[in-house]
Amino acid sequence: MSIRDRRVQYETEGLERSDLHDDPIVQWQRWYDQSAEANLAEPNAMTLSTVGKDGGPDSRIVLVRGVDQSGFAFYTNYDSAKSAQLTAHPQASAVFGWLDLHRQVRVRGTVSRLPAAVSDEYFSSRPRESQLGAWASPQSQPIHGREELLARLAEVEQRFAGVDVQRPPHWGGWLLTPREIEFWQGRPSRLHDRFKYTLQSNGAWTIERLAP
Ligand SMILES: Cc1cc2nc3c(=O)[nH]c(=O)nc-3n(C[C@H](O)[C@H](O)[C@H](O)COP(=O)(O)O)c2cc1C
Repeated sequence: MSIRDRRVQYETEGLERSDLHDDPIVQWQRWYDQSAEANLAEPNAMTLSTVGKDGGPDSRIVLVRGVDQSGFAFYTNYDSAKSAQLTAHPQASAVFGWLDLHRQVRVRGTVSRLPAAVSDEYFSSRPRESQLGAWASPQSQPIHGREELLARLAEVEQRFAGVDVQRPPHWGGWLLTPREIEFWQGRPSRLHDRFKYTLQSNGAWTIERLAP
């Protein structure tokens, strides 16, 4: 089938204001739980967009590792391109694409580094190979070949032989604290349902329906 003729009809029950929890984090958690129950691939994956040095947006997928009222936590290399961008411009947007459920959630907000103790705790829960990988990979830097990466891995395996792998100082968490969250549910004839939560200065969330 040609790409221009590829179309999915979204036959879902739709989304009403009365379906939504007043709190967007609780609402996000409901949809996340439904995505996990539906066995969607990597339901905690979000596409994270940052602002590049040239002023243009830059996007990549990261995995959310914690969600609460303070926001969405993810982990990465603090020397990576994304971390440099987040440090220079601590704003981000993210999108969860739960396509098999005809759902999308968009988030916009500010970012901050998670406390070192929180990153330590999460790092210690990771599989050892991932912990070693965090030391071995100079994320976002040019490398000569895969051999260079494997040589770096061999070196850190030796360094940590027989002992626990400590969190590298260049690796840790970021928190995306939302001020806008939009829930999108696909409907027939492209008349989809969209509801946007916006954080007010008094800490309350307003909810408005948007045209699809
Ligand atoms: C499904 C998926 C999950 C990913 N999860 C992470 C993650 O949690 N943290 C991370 O640093 N990179 C993750 N990546 C890799 C990033 O997309 C990206 O390649 C990397 O972080 C470098 O991005 P940067 O050069 O913009 O900093 C993931 C990629 C995919 C496809």
